[in-house]
Amino acid sequence: MASRGSFSGRIGFVAAAAGSAVGLGNIWQFPYVAGVNGGGAFLIVYVFWIFVIGLPIMVGEIALGRHTKMNPYGAYRALGGKAWGLVGILGILCATMILTFYNVVSGWAFGYFVETVKGTLLEKENYSSFFQGYVSDISNNFFFSLVFMVITAFIVMRGIKKGIEGTAKILMPTLLVILILISIYGLTLPGAMEGVRFYIFPDFSQINGSVIYAALGQAFFSLSLGLGGLITYGSYVSKKENIVSSAAMVTVTDSIVAFLAGMMIFPLVFAMGQSPSEGPGLVFVALPAIFQAMGPVLGTLVGALFFLLLCFAALTSTISLLEIPVAYLRDEHKFSRKKAVIIMATIIFLLGLPSMLSFGTVETFTNFVSYQGQSKSFMDLITDIFSVIALPLGGFLMSVFIATRWKTRNLSAEITQGYSGYAGSIIEKIINFIMVYVAPLALGLMFVLTVLEKFFGIQLL
Ligand code: PHE
Repeated sequence: MASRGSFSGRIGFVAAAAGSAVGLGNIWQFPYVAGVNGGGAFLIVYVFWIFVIGLPIMVGEIALGRHTKMNPYGAYRALGGKAWGLVGILGILCATMILTFYNVVSGWAFGYFVETVKGTLLEKENYSSFFQGYVSDISNNFFFSLVFMVITAFIVMRGIKKGIEGTAKILMPTLLVILILISIYGLTLPGAMEGVRFYIFPDFSQINGSVIYAALGQAFFSLSLGLGGLITYGSYVSKKENIVSSAAMVTVTDSIVAFLAGMMIFPLVFAMGQSPSEGPGLVFVALPAIFQAMGPVLGTLVGALFFLLLCFAALTSTISLLEIPVAYLRDEHKFSRKKAVIIMATIIFLLGLPSMLSFGTVETFTNFVSYQGQSKSFMDLITDIFSVIALPLGGFLMSVFIATRWKTRNLSAEITQGYSGYAGSIIEKIINFIMVYVAPLALGLMFVLTVLEKFFGIQLL
């Protein structure tokens, strides 16, 4: 069998895993979800989930992957038997379904980048109606999301070191530089401080059940947890690496980027007198108006940089999402990398078409179902099932798996390789305590409460 491939070392792995984590979730979704859920209040709950639950779950995933050197299904099955293998399958299914809509939104970002460079975006009069028209126009979306998928497939085809790691090592630093430049610029605008205040100072009265679930779902999505993505990447990591410190670096990078994205967007939004709770259109509606107000030269420059940033962030995430089912097909069904990539990329692109048509193009997909007292599109449904609900569920199942089946002593033995002081340390005690008690209880409870609220309209928190 062809070798599975591996990362060249610590930097390669951290860049790739941070590339997976940093994505549309941080730059597109985080600011708008925070904006809708009360700004600073949301931020606090989010940080709690990220560090108390997210980081230990990430350590667990990487350890499972490195220990078994397999895809999520193979890893669970090898250590837990066929029934646990289903948890891996659930993860692979989530990755596949998330990529179907993620690629559509990536296509919008790419399209907006091209429109900005061509100079056509900044000529528009009403960005809200332009956005609505844009996302319902199948010809643009089909083309740009197809190109995005082809680029993703091409990179994944080149393998772990040359493709995945090589791309992340270039795009991640570039992304950080662009983000910092735009944030600094935003902060110098008059009125910016109001945005900073909204974003940083929590209004605790805003914290309620939906803020807590939204923050949890966002934390899992943003860290790429709960679907075995880090089991997959972990399977390419050498025994010399320190899993805990690598996971901490990924988590901190992801949080810094999400935080900076808010610092970039809210001051701009407030400086221009717009609403922070615009919703999913925030970066596509609020920001173009702001770029326009900067004048044609500066606006085109900052705008093009911004949408390029969004594309880079999305690309390192689509790569990691595609690698999950690809690793499965290679390990379990002996597909060549090339064949696995071509088949999965094609299936995923096709399955994404209903999501692409969910924005007014086709009525059936736009108003596909109704729950939570609202009509939901096909894409809303896929997001709710495979991301908001399934990812924390995946984290729950993994913590139960480690606690009851694999056992924390095996987790510790795996982590100790590459981190000799781990056994007996306070860090080990904290991670085990979270894995055995906190994560199963908190995530199990959240799963029940979210399902009750979303699909049965019962609000307990
Ligand atoms: N973490 C990515 C983001 O924030 C999305 C993602 C989720 C990527 C799950 C891989 C796996 O955009």
